Amino acid sequence: MQLIKRGRRLRTSQGLRRMVAETSLNIDDLIYPLFIMEGNNIIEDIPSMPGQYYYSVDRLEEIINEISMLGIPSVLLFGLPEKKDESGSEAYNQDGIIQKAIRRIKELNKELIVITDVCMCEYTSHGHCGIVHDNCVDNDCTVDVIKKIALSHVKAGADIVAPSDMMDGRIGAIRELLDKEGYIDTAIMSYSAKYSSSFYGPFRDAAKSAPQFGDRKTYQMDYHNSNEAIREGEQDLVEGADILMVKPALSYMDVIYRFKERFTCPIAAYNVSGEYSMIKVAAANGLIDEKTMIIETLTGIKRSGADLIITYFALDAAKIMRGIY
Ligand code: PBG
Repeated sequence: MQLIKRGRRLRTSQGLRRMVAETSLNIDDLIYPLFIMEGNNIIEDIPSMPGQYYYSVDRLEEIINEISMLGIPSVLLFGLPEKKDESGSEAYNQDGIIQKAIRRIKELNKELIVITDVCMCEYTSHGHCGIVHDNCVDNDCTVDVIKKIALSHVKAGADIVAPSDMMDGRIGAIRELLDKEGYIDTAIMSYSAKYSSSFYGPFRDAAKSAPQFGDRKTYQMDYHNSNEAIREGEQDLVEGADILMVKPALSYMDVIYRFKERFTCPIAAYNVSGEYSMIKVAAANGLIDEKTMIIETLTGIKRSGADLIITYFALDAAKIMRGIY
């Protein structure tokens, strides 16, 4: 009798492998982050993130059409305001950069799910994610501002708000305000397990949001811990979060896995800027095969338990999956 490994019989053709695959990456899983800038007629390279661009609101049409045509269901918006101040007041201006971008995107395609990053770091002159008193971020004052920012995004048409500030109590405060204002159907995606990470470097250059003093270690999580992530996730669910997120993704797949095992809500993973730029730069130098590495990376994130993947590779991945890259 010839002994053949059982697994091998299911690997004899690509069709068979696909039929029995335990994980499948779909375009529906992808969320594409966009950087929106004040000004006119701008589509400008982001140097720290090759292949990503800043867009002014009046130049969003082309990229939104491309996203829509590729079937990518959702975008996550980041804004670069014209002016920053101590209290990040531009973040909740109803005519601020994100609020204008949401209205424009909904005009272009009202079916596209618009998620907004709710945070202050792009809007504060000191670059911290909250109100600073005596060199410390004041949790409760910050939550009062965060909920105002979230409401202003929802009023402009956002479908999901994603607070990324990591303050305690923010999910409950946002939920209460949205409900009170009648936005009972707007979902909250919580950056529950947001680690203090070097992998955000290219984003901070792109968003011009690096802290001007100190670091974010008092409010973002320490990467030595994962039980703490579970506690954050539990708390966010109790406060009313609809989707829980883990960020970054690749060095945190154990956390994604634990979230998926533990919680029955959708789990999102953020494949962050450093994880993106490493692959792009290595590929540009001929060190790796870009296309296969993108798909392997995203499939790995999916296999570890993420239902949704926020990734700068969304356009590339959708094109690869459609055979047009
Ligand atoms: C904070 C925020 C950050 C990212 C998303 N939202 C940066 C930070 O915490 O410093 C990073 C995303 C990435 O690296 O791609 N508003």
